[in-house]
Amino acid sequence: MKAVNIMIEEHENIRKMLKVIRRYCYRVMNDDDIDYEDFYKIIDFIRNYSDGLHHAKEEDILFKILGEQVPKLANNGAITGMLIEHDLSRLYTSNLEKALEKYRLGNDEARLDIIANAIAYTDLLDRHIEKENNALYRFANNLLADDIKTEIDKRCAQVDLTAGEKGVQDKYLSFIGELEQKIK
Ligand SMILES: [Fe+2]
Ligand SMILES: [Fe+2]
Repeated sequence: MKAVNIMIEEHENIRKMLKVIRRYCYRVMNDDDIDYEDFYKIIDFIRNYSDGLHHAKEEDILFKILGEQVPKLANNGAITGMLIEHDLSRLYTSNLEKALEKYRLGNDEARLDIIANAIAYTDLLDRHIEKENNALYRFANNLLADDIKTEIDKRCAQVDLTAGEKGVQDKYLSFIGELEQKIK
């Protein structure tokens, strides 16, 4: 399925950002001189690329349709697990944002919460991606009828096109490159 292949590419891009986040956290741990504003770029990436584009296609299209077609995956099955993890990723992100605010206001101990939540996010997402690539996406490829796959491809292509017209993918892929360069 073309939509799934694109989602696998998005996973690779997200994983590049996970590596960047870990390197930033290492610098935070060592109390190195880093630009904490970059964490807000990371949060922007998480909210508008990982979540706003990628998770949204999973939740609104791929997993929704897969769950309708194969209900045992939806009713407390594998899809439910993925949705819970999406929610957990949002919690870690908002906790990270709160910790950054505290640090900005002079609370040095908040570095601990920056690291804890950012690393929890990277670990969650890395495992999550592994499960989707090796289980959920395979279920979709193997269990769905061809006309349903075509429908998913069509709807996802529309989302990608709309995002592309707004420059979403270009913006966030260049974020990855920019932060990779800064944290080398
Ligand atoms: Fe997901
Ligand atoms: Fe995913």
